[in-house]
Amino acid sequence: MSELEFYNKQFEKYGRYDHGTQESKKLDLSNPEDYFENLIHSISSKEKTLVDLGCGDGLFTSTLASLNKRVIGVEPSNLINVAYETAKNCATENLTFVRENAVDLGFDDSTIDIVISRRGPNPADEIARILSSGGMFAFITIGEQDCRELKKLVGRGQHFGDSSRVKEELVNLFQGQGFEIIECQDFCYSEKYESESSLIEFLHQVPIFDGFDRDDYSEVSKYCTGFERNEIQLNRHRVVLLAKLSS
Ligand SMILES: C[S@@+](CC[C@H](N)C(=O)[O-])C[C@H]1O[C@@H](n2cnc3c(N)ncnc32)[C@H](O)[C@@H]1O
Repeated sequence: MSELEFYNKQFEKYGRYDHGTQESKKLDLSNPEDYFENLIHSISSKEKTLVDLGCGDGLFTSTLASLNKRVIGVEPSNLINVAYETAKNCATENLTFVRENAVDLGFDDSTIDIVISRRGPNPADEIARILSSGGMFAFITIGEQDCRELKKLVGRGQHFGDSSRVKEELVNLFQGQGFEIIECQDFCYSEKYESESSLIEFLHQVPIFDGFDRDDYSEVSKYCTGFERNEIQLNRHRVVLLAKLSS
């Protein structure tokens, strides 16, 4: 199943994608999602146009509207329908969404100040094309160590079997497109699940295992036997990148 098929299926099933966006909260900078959000806030300003690639339901995108002059979310899956509703409910009028694929964007060359992708796509050549000189790209993505022990048991999963490091690949990719790497950091941390069924429910909602279904439950069960109830630990890995298009 392709990633887009996965998100279309999520839309049919849940009408949304559970991304953990909260309306208002205190940022915890040891948490990669909060760190990433803080990074975007630090580069945003009222003169800037920001594009969010793979914006999903657009809820996170909408939190950036008041910080920038113009904010545009890009999403090719049916989640765009939720994003259109998000724009209608947004307090400011500078937020729009377009149904497009990030590899072939409708923006003119060198017209965008900031591009972000929150666990979405990162087509470096297209990002370099639309960014103005000195423009910024902020990205958070899944690292190669993410849920590694569980993937070993299940025998597949995102990045399973890859010998390369996501961080190094990103640095090489963006330097190759004329970006200066401002920072690129690994974040390794763990999440806790209270029961085997709550972990299974989570795994159905995310693309960690392509086509996750009942046949995978026995391996998840084996994984969970190694932990006390309420203490099922999943090791997570994120990589956060901030890169500047050289002038
Ligand atoms: C993990 S979700 C993240 C959604 C959103 N950024 C968030 O943080 O809630 C990844 C999103 O990227 C989108 N996506 C995948 N491939 C894409 C592509 N080539 N162009 C644009 N979006 C894409 C998916 O449809 C999905 O909505």
